[in-house]
Amino acid sequence: MEGKRENDHSTVRIEVSAAAETGGPYPVLIRSGLLGELASLLRAHVRVHRWAIITDDIVEGLHGRTVADGIAGLGPAPLLISFPHGEASKTRELWGRLTDLMLESGIGRDGGVVALGGGVVGDLAGFVAATYMRGIPCVQVPTTTLAMIDAAVGGKTGVDLPAGKNLVGVMRQPRLVIMDPAVLGSLPDDVHRAGLAEAVKHAAVADEDYLAWIEREVDVILRRDPRALQALIRRSVEIKASLVAEDTLETGPRASLNFGHTIAHALEHVSGFAIAHGYAVAIGMVAEARLGEALGIAMAGTAARIERLLTRLGLPVHIPPATALAEVIAATRADKKSRAAHVRYALLERPGRAARSPDGQWTFAVSPAEALAAITGEASS
Ligand SMILES: NC(=O)c1ccc[n+]([C@@H]2O[C@H](COP(=O)([O-])OP(=O)(O)OC[C@H]3O[C@@H](n4cnc5c(N)ncnc54)[C@H](O)[C@@H]3O)[C@@H](O)[C@H]2O)c1
Ligand SMILES: [Zn+2]
Repeated sequence: MEGKRENDHSTVRIEVSAAAETGGPYPVLIRSGLLGELASLLRAHVRVHRWAIITDDIVEGLHGRTVADGIAGLGPAPLLISFPHGEASKTRELWGRLTDLMLESGIGRDGGVVALGGGVVGDLAGFVAATYMRGIPCVQVPTTTLAMIDAAVGGKTGVDLPAGKNLVGVMRQPRLVIMDPAVLGSLPDDVHRAGLAEAVKHAAVADEDYLAWIEREVDVILRRDPRALQALIRRSVEIKASLVAEDTLETGPRASLNFGHTIAHALEHVSGFAIAHGYAVAIGMVAEARLGEALGIAMAGTAARIERLLTRLGLPVHIPPATALAEVIAATRADKKSRAAHVRYALLERPGRAARSPDGQWTFAVSPAEALAAITGEASS
């Protein structure tokens, strides 16, 4: 798994192409130690008058001061703002408060935002940057496995509403993404594992070699060996970048990234968001791989292989019993991506390849009754 390199012999550089109206292309840089080189990276890639660093309280405690001091020489002292960690902060109210704080501090049209943290920070700070004075540059500096593997690339920003997750937002690409796998060392185990579910998803929909590599390297990945993490993040970013390129509206292959997610979103909803997203995705992928097999779309054994790997990664794979599953399937219709009685699922053809329907679509319409029967293994009437 070789990538392009920049400056020295170990920084991986991946170019993400994106439609001009969402902000155009941008580079993703990956290497242990890059956080300490933020000032020179910002100077080389994004010129702004003054930076606002937006982060959460936990990441502020770990890296806030170092990052703020590190980039202090670039211009006026950066504004460091933090908010309480957790999904509960991803709200319109906090979007408003952060925007007000930036205004009060005199950040102008020539300012920029560094989003330093997990996916919650990335989505919220990205939304602040996208809307502040009609949009100022944002540099994503993800600090969780999930944010590096998934959230920091693709340009989706936004906040949650009482009615559901991510219901308000815009598609706006960052100008630069900086990933330092060394910062993942301080993550709680369950947070690290939750992010790995998305790596399995990338492998499952797009690259059987990558899937086999994860299967071989489970132990070093769980131990967070820096080289293994760099290789994992690189391959996932390459896959996500190739799928999101020029497919802002998810009408093409980007939709295959929703594998596992129709069930996952419903599980999260039914549990009142008590279950972590990555855990819900793990269960969702097993359920949807089974669905694919039952519908004759996925090769036999697909679900078993995904389930085995997720189990070895310490992720949950148990599909709820039939009555609870019926409630989950009913909740899939609340998924904002569904339009009619049938719900669209991104399915696999086999491990390492997403399925495409005969009419060229990357998702399949399945009725709730059919999905329930297929996943529980009961014949549909
Ligand atoms: N924009 C996208 O395309 C996209 C894709 C996937 C997920 N998301 C969003 O991402 C969010 C989930 O992201 P997440 O899982 O990173 O959650 P998160 O941002 O809440 O981070 C998880 C926890 O880890 C802590 N943390 C962060 N970095 C740390 C570090 N280096 N060491 C120790 N602790 C650290 C955080 O403070 C938090 O408590 C959700 O809101 C989801 O909707 C967005
Ligand atoms: Zn996801």
